Amino acid sequence: MKLLFTNIRQLLQVRETNVTRLNGSEMKELPTLENAWLLCEDGRIADFGSMENIPSFEDVEQVDASGKILMPGWIDSHTHLVYAGNREQEFVDRINGLTYEEIANKGGGILNSAKKLQETSAEDLYVQSARRLEEVMKMGTTAIEIKSGYGLTTEAELKMLKVIKRLKENYPIEIKATFLGAHAVPKEYKDNKDAYLDLLIDEMMPKIAQEGLADYVDIFCEKGYFTVEDTHKVLAAGEKYNLTPKIHVNQFNSIGGIKAGVEHKALSVDHLEVMEPEDFEVLKGSDTMPVALPSCSLFLTIPYTPAREIIDSGLPLALATDYNPGSTPSGNMNLVVSLACIKMKMNPEEAINAATINAAYAMGISDTHGSITKGKAANFILTEKVPSYGFLPYSFGANHIDSVYINGKKI
Ligand code: NIG
Ligand code: FE
Repeated sequence: MKLLFTNIRQLLQVRETNVTRLNGSEMKELPTLENAWLLCEDGRIADFGSMENIPSFEDVEQVDASGKILMPGWIDSHTHLVYAGNREQEFVDRINGLTYEEIANKGGGILNSAKKLQETSAEDLYVQSARRLEEVMKMGTTAIEIKSGYGLTTEAELKMLKVIKRLKENYPIEIKATFLGAHAVPKEYKDNKDAYLDLLIDEMMPKIAQEGLADYVDIFCEKGYFTVEDTHKVLAAGEKYNLTPKIHVNQFNSIGGIKAGVEHKALSVDHLEVMEPEDFEVLKGSDTMPVALPSCSLFLTIPYTPAREIIDSGLPLALATDYNPGSTPSGNMNLVVSLACIKMKMNPEEAINAATINAAYAMGISDTHGSITKGKAANFILTEKVPSYGFLPYSFGANHIDSVYINGKKI
């Protein structure tokens, strides 16, 4: 099956050779072909070029993209999309003056979601999660990472990961699964965190590995959750099962989690709202991708990740939603890209690079996704008629999506 897009106003993120990530000033360049065509074959990008010298094709289904932009679909490398119910009440509690921390200390927060999830059947959890997945696909997300971490018992963590597996089987979108058993210390282990970590390492991890349910391992390294020492322990255990780390660090405090992540060759370190000079230093020269989650900053009214300092110091940066019921009940990557420009002073080129090619790196799929490169997956956003790509982040709150393609098929 061949699919041909013609008269594309702007074809974004055109990379002739495979680039896997962009560092610092490289992020300023968004290679763009004006008035272009693109051919897909068997779900992959077969060829592209300028309309001025379009070859004649036979047996192709044609899409006229006049006035429209064609670009790689968004890649959301950090979500907690599998969850039960919602935390609307905590949202109202915060409006009325409680902080996220106060709510968590009262047994709300992650533990609230864990209780709900434990009481929800696998079928119901699947139905709720599938609805969210369909919602984000319509908003242009064509690859997504999903974490466990609202189970916090062996049974419930496995339930979550099996739901992710079922989503992988039933939807065309590329999905990676992350084991985040170390998301919070369950109530029963409040005074015995080490016993919970033993359970996580000696019981949960082997089962998850045996059933091939996770690609990555994560931990919430933060005051009141897990220490740097815990982080070393969990990540070292993950290594034995080939679970590469992608970790939650520096959301509220800089306690040395980034260094621990880099030492364990983390694929990404995520959140980074609070950054100390030494955090920048340890990231320099590493293969670890910093990931910012601006919708979380918006929703919790906490600082935004200092994107400018990160990029201006030569480091790469990726963007993701953090879609979850507590800190970011939104999986809208279009909004994330706008917020990155508005609140983090990223240029549209930098934000689009951060949500495509660098996001692919943070998900471990940049060899096959994240740019318009021959052989890569034919995963695209076709926009409505818009003047240029800068209009996308500029008109914040609107998505401007005409259609979304995954593996060459319109969803
Ligand atoms: O990435 N920070 C830790 N975990 C999630 C939020 C968890 C929750 O509130 O449910 C996050 O923001
Ligand atoms: Fe998160």
